[in-house]
Amino acid sequence: MAIRIDILTLFPEMFGPVLGTSIPKRAAEKGLVSYHLTGIRDFATDAHKSVDDKPFGGGPGMVMMCQTLFDAVEHVEKQDVRPATRILLTPQGRVLDQTLAEELSRKERLLLIAGHYEGFDERIIDGLSPMELSIGDYVLSGGEVAAMVLIDAIVRLLPGALGAETGAADESFADGLLEYPQYTRPREFRGMDVPDVLLGGNHKAIAQWRLEQRKIRTQTRRPDLWQAWLAKQEKKTKD
Ligand code: ADE
Repeated sequence: MAIRIDILTLFPEMFGPVLGTSIPKRAAEKGLVSYHLTGIRDFATDAHKSVDDKPFGGGPGMVMMCQTLFDAVEHVEKQDVRPATRILLTPQGRVLDQTLAEELSRKERLLLIAGHYEGFDERIIDGLSPMELSIGDYVLSGGEVAAMVLIDAIVRLLPGALGAETGAADESFADGLLEYPQYTRPREFRGMDVPDVLLGGNHKAIAQWRLEQRKIRTQTRRPDLWQAWLAKQEKKTKD
């Protein structure tokens, strides 16, 4: 059954172009995923359609209010019997990585909450108990772009999303190493040659060269990933 992704946002129109292009679009067309956008402002009850208010205690910016968000979550969750994994996009959350994307791609239903102000009333977190998720250590103007990043990382992992010949399995991060360098025609471009080993047709030698390149890259560019990979290898030989 297709994974259902509900998105609560103040700006549903931001999502159309991203979910309607490339892999996210194809995954939906293939029936692997369905997207359901809901505008949070539709749940505002006052004449001004307010969704935010000034923080108690003072301070800059506006804070997203409880009532509209609770109503929106409860309304959306009733639309399907499957329980949703609630995810709030926030720089305070657990940082997204490939392992977490894989974990979430195995859920049957996700409910993403994207806010657009200084912050959320803490009782939204206490009352709805969402997983808090960040896409990196920087601050965006809102959770929408973060939600799109998360969706993209997830849907390309759904079995069948990338087509038969390209799997997500042998990519960077899938096994903890960065990707090897790639080349296509021509063999020589502005004095720069394709490495000989790739032209020789010796598949064993090519595989060895690629693995070596992945190790060198990971070691020099991402010492953190390299240490994690080494630790994993050590554990494997012990088991
Ligand atoms: N909202 C604002 N910044 C964010 C970030 N880095 N990750 C997730 N949601 C956010």
